[in-house]
Amino acid sequence: MTIYSTIKSTGSYLPEKILTNADLEKIVDTTDEWIVQRSGIKQRHIAADTETTGNMATIAGLRALKNSGLKPEDIDGVIVATTTPDRTFPSVAVKVQAELGIKPGLAFDVQAVCTGFVYALTTADNFIKCGQAKRILVIGAEKMSSIVDWNDRTTCVLFADGAGAVILEATEHNDGLDGQGIHSTHLYANGNQRDLLQTSGGVSTTGDNGHIEMQGREVFKYAVSYMADVVGEVLEHNKITPEQIDWLVPHQANIRIIESTAKKLNMSMDKVVTTVDHHGNTSAASIPLALDEAVSKGDIKRGEMLLIEAMGGGLTWGAALVRF
Ligand code: ACO
Repeated sequence: MTIYSTIKSTGSYLPEKILTNADLEKIVDTTDEWIVQRSGIKQRHIAADTETTGNMATIAGLRALKNSGLKPEDIDGVIVATTTPDRTFPSVAVKVQAELGIKPGLAFDVQAVCTGFVYALTTADNFIKCGQAKRILVIGAEKMSSIVDWNDRTTCVLFADGAGAVILEATEHNDGLDGQGIHSTHLYANGNQRDLLQTSGGVSTTGDNGHIEMQGREVFKYAVSYMADVVGEVLEHNKITPEQIDWLVPHQANIRIIESTAKKLNMSMDKVVTTVDHHGNTSAASIPLALDEAVSKGDIKRGEMLLIEAMGGGLTWGAALVRF
C-alpha cells in the first residue's frame, strides 16, 4: 500500500465586481475585438478596494471545508499560493488558518506566480506522502488588480482577482493509475528568463510593490513550448496516452496557449476546462477556480483523470496528473 494525496473537495470565491472589455475600452486604448482575439478574455472579476487576497482565500477555503464535510480541527496545514499577499509578512496562510479556526500546524505561502498552485499542490502532496500531514488546505489566491498598471493596455486587460481551494487528504491504496489521487507532479523554473515577466519594484528594491511588466510575445512563445514539453513528460512518466486523460485543467492565461496544449495532446476542446473568457488571468488562483467551477457544474466527476498544467513568471512551469 502507498500513500496518495486525494482531492477531497474544492471551493472558490470570485469578487462581485465584473469588469468587461467594454469597461476597459473606457480606461485604455483597446477594443473588445483585440482582447478576445489575442487572449479569449471577455470579462473578469475585480476585488473591491477593501477586499484582500487573504479575505478571498479565506472564503474559498471555507467553501472547500464545507464541501468536504470536515471540521477545521481535521486540517493539519494550510499552503497558499500567491504573488499578491495582504502584507509582506505574515503570510496569507496564517490568516486563513486563524480565520477558519484551524489548529496550529504548518502554514505558509508559496510564490511561483501563475505556476503557484501547481507548486503548492506539489508541496502539500510531498508533506502528505512522507507522512507529515494527513489533510492540507491548498489555496491559490490573488488580487492581481493591485499590481497591474491600469495605464498599460498590454497587461491590464489580462489580469484579474479571485481564489480557489482544494483539500488534499491522505489515502492508502495499491499502486496503479486506477487509484484516486495525485500520481505525479513535475516542477520547473528557468531563472535566466526572470526579466520576461516581472514587477517593476519590490520590498528590497524600490520599497513598493511595483507593477506587472511583461514581454508578452516572448512569454507566449515559451508558454507554448514549455506546456508541450511538460505534458509530454507527464504522459511518458506515467506511461499513458492522451486518450486516458479525461480533462485538461490548464492555467487560464490565454485561450491560444490552452488550445495549442490541447492540440499537442490531440484533445478536443470539450475536454478542456476553460474559464479564461469569464475569469481572465487570476494567476495562482486560476487552476483551483477552474477546477471548482467544473466540479460544481458536474463536468468533472469522481474517478476521472485530470492533467493540470501552468506556466508563469520566473519563468516557472509545471504539471500534475491527478485521478479525481
Ligand atoms: N489593445 C489593443 N492593442 C494592443 C493591446 C490592447 N490591449 N495590447 C497591445 N496592443 C498592440 C501592441 O501595441 C502591438 O501593436 P504594434 O504591432 O503596433 O506594436 C500589437 O497590439 C500586438 O502586440 P503583441 O504583444 O505582439 O500581441 P500578442 O499577439 O503577442 O498578444 C498577449 C499579446 C495577449 C499578451 C500575448 O502575447 C500573451 O498572451 N502572452 C503570454 C501571457 C502569459 O501567458 N503569461 C504567463 C502567465 S502570467 C504570470 O505569470 C503573472
